[in-house]
Amino acid sequence: MNITVVGTGYVGLVMGACIAEMGNVVFCVDMDSRKIETLKQGILPIHEPGLENIVTENHACARLHFTTSLAEAMADSAVIFIAVGTPPGEDGSADLGHVLEVARQIGSLMDRPTMVVNKSTVPVGSADRVRAVIEQQLQQRAVDVEFDVVSNPEFLKEGAAVNDFMQPDRVIVGTDSEHVRQLMTELYAPFMRNHPRILFMGVRDAEMTKYAANAMLATKISFMNEIASLCERLEVDVENVRLGIGSDQRIGYHFIYAGCGYGGSCFPKDVKALIRIAQQSEFEPRLLQAVDARNELQKQSLFEKLVARFGSDLSDCTFAVWGLAFKPGTDDMREAPSVALINSLVGAGARVRAFDPVAGQAARREFPERWFAEERLAIVEGQYEATIDADALVLVTEWKPFRHPDFKALKRLLRNPLILDGRNQYDPAQVSREGFEYCGIGRRAIRAGEQKVL
Ligand code: UDX
Repeated sequence: MNITVVGTGYVGLVMGACIAEMGNVVFCVDMDSRKIETLKQGILPIHEPGLENIVTENHACARLHFTTSLAEAMADSAVIFIAVGTPPGEDGSADLGHVLEVARQIGSLMDRPTMVVNKSTVPVGSADRVRAVIEQQLQQRAVDVEFDVVSNPEFLKEGAAVNDFMQPDRVIVGTDSEHVRQLMTELYAPFMRNHPRILFMGVRDAEMTKYAANAMLATKISFMNEIASLCERLEVDVENVRLGIGSDQRIGYHFIYAGCGYGGSCFPKDVKALIRIAQQSEFEPRLLQAVDARNELQKQSLFEKLVARFGSDLSDCTFAVWGLAFKPGTDDMREAPSVALINSLVGAGARVRAFDPVAGQAARREFPERWFAEERLAIVEGQYEATIDADALVLVTEWKPFRHPDFKALKRLLRNPLILDGRNQYDPAQVSREGFEYCGIGRRAIRAGEQKVL
């Protein structure tokens, strides 16, 4: 099949590369000419395990093309995936501007039956708006061709994007056309492993499924974070509670890790967008509002613990931060809890030395340049370098190299042996035995040398 994918962000690039890998000829289109040029040279705009190989190999054998010209791509393909961003507008609602602009361009070029597939996360009813924009263009040009608008939301996770695309739990397709069903079944057949995982439904149902999936996962996390806050007040260890409830298959172990808040390009944006969708339908989504509010508070939880320990004026303090990306395995800084923490710390006068295995460069752009010049914030090259003379080590992102640190070295380097564990990675008893004061999320704080049975 010949396929066009518009947008070379996370979703578009991963999808384009993966369907090319399965033998299709794919045209990846982006209006950013620099991005297209660098992609042609095999330089990827994102850090994603396994992606570079399949991009370069499929580009080299002419199955994966990069172009800024939608016209060039559409000349050879009648299936177009829209995978451009839907950033939050001022009021939190998803901004459809890019999607509708691509629809307009498609309508201005379409001259044969075409299948337009929306992969971007868009509010319920967006497919109708895409259809209307294309129809308007066709009318203006007095062109009469049939086209379908399909919803096919993407569920891939950053850091595991290639794997998730290659081995999806399910593929959701919103359509009422038999012809689309056949085509999508054929396209996704190589990704179905040993049984069909494609679910057909109405277009609006598919659009809602994407929001509901992300909102459900965000709800699990916020719920657990709320329980964690309660655990702290009741001298309970949330990690034991997690194990205790996760063993109930109806609850399950996934996405019930308490921590310093969820980030990323999807959960915060999609929960807020779903709240706006509800409000536009004159419905107050109390639960979703609470999920969002809990997360905003949660991003301040580590800062609050430091203030409780050192006071609100932190001008004599230096803190080491381990992990800047919103989660391990990516250099993505969007909505990262580290940004909220560092902004609050520097705002309270503290100095921060941070380290991240891959997101260091991306993180620099999140903070004012003068903070670096004034040495209020440094992003350093090594995890132990970050801890020199610090008043506490704060773990924000649970990258693998942070899991089993050299506690002896840390003891030597830190000015004050205190570890704040924003992802509950460490065993409090062990950390205490190593001579540190330990403070996790939803766990009993434990002093150095104190032996508590947890
Ligand atoms: C998410 C969805 O998982 C994916 O299906 C969708 O397509 C896009 O949004 P992603 O943003 O890549 O994917 O990240 P994910 O791995 O889901 O984690 C999101 C955030 O939740 C991270 O900040 C992570 O640290 C946090 N998280 C996750 C928790 O705080 N606790 C958990 O138990 C799980």
